[in-house]
Amino acid sequence: MQVETLDSRTLTEDQATEIAKLLVRVWPKSAKTLADRRDQLLAMGRNYAGPKAQAPRSYIICENDEVIAHSAILPRTIGTTAGDLVIAGLTRVGTAPEQRGRGLGEIIVRAAFAAVDAGTFPFALFQTTGVVRPFYEKLGATMVENPIINSLEHDAHGSPFWDKEIMRYPSKGSWPKGEIDLRGPGY
Ligand SMILES: CC(C)(COP(=O)(O)OP(=O)(O)OC[C@H]1O[C@@H](n2cnc3c(N)ncnc32)[C@H](O)[C@@H]1OP(=O)(O)O)[C@@H](O)C(=O)NCCC(=O)NCCS
Repeated sequence: MQVETLDSRTLTEDQATEIAKLLVRVWPKSAKTLADRRDQLLAMGRNYAGPKAQAPRSYIICENDEVIAHSAILPRTIGTTAGDLVIAGLTRVGTAPEQRGRGLGEIIVRAAFAAVDAGTFPFALFQTTGVVRPFYEKLGATMVENPIINSLEHDAHGSPFWDKEIMRYPSKGSWPKGEIDLRGPGY
């Protein structure tokens, strides 16, 4: 399957709409509408001013003019006990419900992790659920046990993530101990 990479800074409204159509099907219980999803995707690249290599992007797999699998990475500077790190925030990973089990999830996540393998980011950091955790473990990710905060929030103590399982890729490497400051909301 061919994976297309779309730089979020130059994402068109039509491209964002096609991805958003998939995302509303992947998360049907979410209050976010198609327009919300589209606008969020467009906003991802709007204020980015960092290096081109780390620019936010979407990875998509299309079939019959439809986006059937998607993942995205957002560069985020996090504060750690070992200093600041620019990590790849993996987000909005989903395969169309009727296309699951074909290996598309694996392909689309490996595409995102490739940016880490290439050295563009030292780690990917993301949230997931207990059900999907084994899927990421098979791909080389591991659980993160550090307390995670967002110092930019008024109540800086709770985790800015809403899912329970926090993971990083790769499982090897020198991941810092102690508190992680996401310096912004979860994703
Ligand atoms: C998680 C998800 C992206 C996987 O997509 P997919 O295209 O079905 O995944 P793949 O076909 O590549 O599956 C790869 C492997 O992971 C396993 N796997 C996939 N989804 C899994 C799940 N929910 N729980 C446990 N294992 C899972 C598959 O069994 C497969 O293993 P195998 O190679 O031994 O058969 C898809 O189920 C999905 O969109 N879920 C809803 C949204 C979601 O939870 N996204 C992740 C949020 S972080």
